[in-house]
Amino acid sequence: MDIENEDATARLGAMLAGLTRAGDAILLSGPLGAGKSVLARAYLRSLCHAPDMEVPSPTYTLVQPYTVPARACGTDVGAVHHFDLWRLGGPEEVEELGWDDAREGVVLVEWPERLEDLTPPEALFVTLTPLADGKPPGLRRAALRGWADRLTPSVFAAAGLVPAQAPPGGTVAGGMGEQAGLRTSPGPESDT
Ligand SMILES: Nc1ncnc2c1ncn2[C@@H]1O[C@H](COP(=O)(O)OP(=O)(O)OP(=O)(O)O)[C@@H](O)[C@H]1O
Ligand SMILES: [Mg+2]
Repeated sequence: MDIENEDATARLGAMLAGLTRAGDAILLSGPLGAGKSVLARAYLRSLCHAPDMEVPSPTYTLVQPYTVPARACGTDVGAVHHFDLWRLGGPEEVEELGWDDAREGVVLVEWPERLEDLTPPEALFVTLTPLADGKPPGLRRAALRGWADRLTPSVFAAAGLVPAQAPPGGTVAGGMGEQAGLRTSPGPESDT
């Protein structure tokens, strides 16, 4: 799926917030400056119904906790922990940051490659890739894998996002599966 600008990345973040359940793991891959923190910020602001909420990048704090108010409808997701694992050496250090407790709520993880064996298999894997030179500078490709039952075409449409190709037959059956219609790119998922 091509993401034309920062606003579209934010819409993707807000879309994911609307689908969130307690226990979710959202893993954000992509190179420096890809837009992982932009997506995380939009996600958290939407989830907390707080459009102006401060959402600093956890580059230095490594993890930033948020308490999500009980939602008017749907289930209470509890706390969200926003991790940036760039500076970490591996899963032992992730555990020292309180990973196990954080998993009771929602974890939102930049540089999830550091999780190694801690990678939750049921996670949503999001990879943001800035496109090559010659394209508008804000253009990104977003590849999503996981949440097959939740990522239906209508969810994307409501967010004003268009998967690269419609699923075969244009049906929603089975959700997006292994992201039929979404272009995939090599990411942490290929290692897990
Ligand atoms: N389509 C886009 N989506 C997100 N950010 C964009 C987009 N186009 C341009 N930008 C800009 O790219 C930068 C993305 O920064 P951000 O901190 O989100 O990157 P990051 O992937 O979290 O990097 P890091 O690995 O250093 O944490 C911002 O300055 C933002 O304004
Ligand atoms: Mg970041």
